Amino acid sequence: MPVGGDTAELLASVKVFSGLEPRELEEVARVAVPRSFERGEIVFREGDPGDTCYVVRSGTISIRRDHPDGRSRALAELRPGAIFGELSMFGAETRSATAEALEDTQLVAILRGDMQRVIRSSPDIAFKMLAELADRVRLVNEQLSRQSFQTVSGRVASTLLAQVITRQSEGAAEHDVLIKATQAEIAQLAGTSRESASRFLATLAREGVVTLGRGKVTVHDPERLRGFIH
Ligand code: CMP
Repeated sequence: MPVGGDTAELLASVKVFSGLEPRELEEVARVAVPRSFERGEIVFREGDPGDTCYVVRSGTISIRRDHPDGRSRALAELRPGAIFGELSMFGAETRSATAEALEDTQLVAILRGDMQRVIRSSPDIAFKMLAELADRVRLVNEQLSRQSFQTVSGRVASTLLAQVITRQSEGAAEHDVLIKATQAEIAQLAGTSRESASRFLATLAREGVVTLGRGKVTVHDPERLRGFIH
């Protein structure tokens, strides 16, 4: 296998790099640095200076904002093939959010200078990054209006449904979709307290829509979640 071979394979699965020739992927892979994080370890904190972006090889990264009073709000959960930390590559050079490993996680790190060189040599990547950013703005708008207009149960139900749709796009079946997340993580993604989220999850469990386990929720019938979204 050529130097950085399996990293090149990983990079080829990342949407923004999908237009690169194998030779170009090899070049990026050669300068990418493998990094490992244990569950609960922080990759970087909001406000830190940042000159590196990361691709998730395995595990899960939570992107979140913390409030000085101790509350925190999850913005996204990122899985293999996702890229993050790219905002500090453009303009402001401090991190806009905190990244934490939710389980043992492997990343590959790419330095700003290397990333900028790749973008210059293959401007198509810049368009793909813009397309990803556009998707993210849409998602953030979605979260914002959900937060402003929906009830707590509506928010938790939409959060579960969004997770189900993501898993299905990754190959999960239509029914009995497993979401590996604690109730506290679901509450954070829904922008509500753990107590309120747990109360509503218990209602869903009583109605047979979900089964709750330690650090996991199985959604039996995603369509029934829609009935709770108002
Ligand atoms: P950066 O600002 O360098 O560091 C924090 C990273 O979190 C940021 O780059 C993005 O990659 C990522 N990020 C910030 N906000 C969101 C969001 N709303 N959804 C997904 N990822 C985000």
